[in-house]
Amino acid sequence: MKRTVLAMTRLLPREMDLLEQEFEVIHLYREADPEATLQHRKNDVQAIVSSPGNPIRRNLIEALPALEIIAQYAVGYDNVDLGAARDRQIKLTNTPDVLTADTADTALALTLAIMRRVVEGDVYIRVGKWLNGPMPLGVSLAGKTAGIVGLGRIGQAIAKRLAAFEMQILYTGRTQKPDMPYQYYDDLATMAAMCDVLVLSCTGGEGTHHLVNAEILDALGPDGFLINISRGSVIDEAALVNALKNRTIRGAGLDVFQNEPFVPEALQSLDNVVLLPHIGSATHETRTVMGKIVVGNLLAHFSGKPLLTEVL
Ligand code: 8YV
Repeated sequence: MKRTVLAMTRLLPREMDLLEQEFEVIHLYREADPEATLQHRKNDVQAIVSSPGNPIRRNLIEALPALEIIAQYAVGYDNVDLGAARDRQIKLTNTPDVLTADTADTALALTLAIMRRVVEGDVYIRVGKWLNGPMPLGVSLAGKTAGIVGLGRIGQAIAKRLAAFEMQILYTGRTQKPDMPYQYYDDLATMAAMCDVLVLSCTGGEGTHHLVNAEILDALGPDGFLINISRGSVIDEAALVNALKNRTIRGAGLDVFQNEPFVPEALQSLDNVVLLPHIGSATHETRTVMGKIVVGNLLAHFSGKPLLTEVL
């Protein structure tokens, strides 16, 4: 008999087909009443496929007696209650490495977009403003300093790219990485005061909640830019709106938000921020490989083989 997988998120069609060939799949994301479906099928679910937008709290984990594994369709897993998963000895897998380049590219796209006014320039032509004269100038990347918060796999890929744009690189994080050629700061506020662009590529969750608050934005200062490709929870969004409104920082580029897919109206109305709908890993190539890893982990688990990308 096929095992039952609760899909809380969509995979690309080919990988979803693969999943369906091997498992009975409950497509929770397309249910009109997901709560009722969960209630009805709670004893059947042996695996979950999830993404950062799907909270997997203790009450859900405890409500699924047959659950064995959570296969996260993402590198980050701050949506999963790790304590609850550990208590029940539930396995957890993610999709590291394969999305590093695309996510780092997204950080670069945001940096260029906000500093060189790329989105504004596109609109400038479309609404006919160019006919009346040139648009305002942007800010050079070359010669500026970028401070990276979290020099993990994605942070390192961002550093490499920004260095290629002739920027000086600083970083902060839980630990210094002696093999990295960049200057380490153990204090975020001190580093923020030293850089022109602050790039967030740390993990989400309690440890980084509102790490970037009014004090850090003040330290970044009126010429500083903030880029976030990690999690919306890392920034105090209300403090950021104030800083952008009052021009106490110069601009921001955001791929992630506190309450996705809802983006505060206050942010949407500002002209010194570029907004993206969480597209860090959103390419055909990367999402295909991510889906294969998700299915591969489930197959490995249920056939007693080692997991491909084990977190727990
Ligand atoms: C997800 C992400 O992959 O990998 C992560 O941690 O935040 C995203 O790139 C995407 O939301 C699909 O689940």
